[in-house]
Amino acid sequence: MAAIKPFSITTLLLMIFIITMTMISQTSSKESNQSNQVFYLHDVTNGPNATVAQIVGITGKVWSYNTFGTFIMVDDPITLTPNQYAVQIGRAQGTISVASMDGSTVIIVLSFVFNNVQYNGSTLELQGASRQRENYREISVVSGTGRFRFAKGYAVFETVSYDPTTTRSLIRVNVTIN
Ligand SMILES: *[C@@H]1O[C@H](CO)[C@@H](O)[C@H](O)[C@H]1NC(C)=O
Ligand SMILES: *[C@@H]1O[C@H](CO)[C@@H](O)[C@H](O)[C@H]1NC(C)=O
Ligand SMILES: *[C@@H]1O[C@H](CO)[C@@H](O)[C@H](O)[C@H]1NC(C)=O
Ligand SMILES: *[C@@H]1O[C@H](CO)[C@@H](O)[C@H](O)[C@H]1NC(C)=O
Repeated sequence: MAAIKPFSITTLLLMIFIITMTMISQTSSKESNQSNQVFYLHDVTNGPNATVAQIVGITGKVWSYNTFGTFIMVDDPITLTPNQYAVQIGRAQGTISVASMDGSTVIIVLSFVFNNVQYNGSTLELQGASRQRENYREISVVSGTGRFRFAKGYAVFETVSYDPTTTRSLIRVNVTIN
């Protein structure tokens, strides 16, 4: 028995070593496949060229981004640079619903629908809660189609600028997917 014991411990250590190395190599291969892409959304809330619209809300209340129960439709142009006249590579289309009683949290369900040469016909699906009054808002990337099938990751939304006269916002979206 005494002769077998040290051998068992060696085997055990070897097994732990192999398992650890496998885990490390899996982690590093996962990390090496992470990709990062920055997009810009151009959002206009008022006027003839508005890209968002409040479509329904609670009767008797003002339908707004700050009112619980308001449902908003979005169709924002997407570009790769902050310039509003840059080539559009797609549209960010979906809904925003004001989901918290104090109006601070909205639930975003958004598809990035690409129409540029590289990603034409592909989509990225973003979904989750957004604390809209904070500057950095993280939303999950739940899936995609075409080039982005099985995409998983997160997107950081950040309002870069807002012009109250034109009601135009520039929103940077930093997408990290595996
Ligand atoms: C990373 O990409 C390589 C090559 O496409 C693939 O063989 C590997 O399985 C991927 N790793 C993960 C963790 O997705
Ligand atoms: C709306 O868009 C049209 C077409 O691009 C443009 O001519 C017009 O100046 C825009 N109006 C406003 C208020 O931005
Ligand atoms: C994208 O696909 C549509 C439909 O297949 C096609 O009409 C359009 O020309 C394509 N656009 C680009 C930029 O390839
Ligand atoms: C986007 O996110 C990545 C990963 O967190 C970071 O390295 C990069 O600097 C970010 N880019 C911008 C423009 O914020």
